[in-house]
Amino acid sequence: MESDKKVIVQSNWKMHKTHVEGIDWIESLIEMEPEISPEIELIPCVPLTLLPAIAQAAQSSSQIFIGAQNVYWETWGAYTGEISAPMIADAGASYCVVGHSERRKYFGETDETVNKKIKAVIESGLKPIFCIGETLGEREQDITEDVIARQVDAIIKAEGVASLANAVLAYEPVWAIGTGKTATPEMAQETHAAIRKLIADQNADVAAKVRIQYGGSMNAGNAADLLAMEDIDGGLIGGASLKAADFLAICQAAG
Ligand code: PGA
Repeated sequence: MESDKKVIVQSNWKMHKTHVEGIDWIESLIEMEPEISPEIELIPCVPLTLLPAIAQAAQSSSQIFIGAQNVYWETWGAYTGEISAPMIADAGASYCVVGHSERRKYFGETDETVNKKIKAVIESGLKPIFCIGETLGEREQDITEDVIARQVDAIIKAEGVASLANAVLAYEPVWAIGTGKTATPEMAQETHAAIRKLIADQNADVAAKVRIQYGGSMNAGNAADLLAMEDIDGGLIGGASLKAADFLAICQAAG
């Protein structure tokens, strides 16, 4: 990992936690913060119902920033049930996950809708956490790098390579999410290096700045080996981060 950029460790709560449970998690993390390197950015990505309360609870911390898990691309209007990027920023978030594979799989998101969402997120001043990754079938067909290139190129084409300087890319092999199957550190490093090269071919400075985090069954047992790889700048953790103490162990493995 390069020393001039902060490692990012994200806890994706998905559709978990009531208000009481969420507040308990964030207060526990704040209490344990002195045990975590100040060089690490901690990003709980929480359900929207909890966002303002968690953001407020984390205000005293200089290393915790809150993320949302999804967004709609329009700014306002008659879109019943949707939430816009300015609304998410207004609720206290700094980051927003876009294109998580669960959204692509269960809610029909495509590269096209994901690109619209990233544009909206960037325009609102939030930082996108842009999820990319191949399915098991695609890995078996040996087309992982083609899939990644299609996903990254689409955003570069739509938004320009400079838009990635402030973004976080989350490489998440779809077959590793919530399955207990993790990419080996070598496998993940190979794909991360390929992603960085794709960006470097367009702009070396942006490639050096962009943070590329790994996600997919990361836990306290495998985090240190994954995070030790040169091009892995952080982790996106779902199931293994739902207890604050487990999240702490992963943060400690990060440095
Ligand atoms: P997981 O989820 O850690 O439970 O595999 C990762 C994710 O949120 O994508």
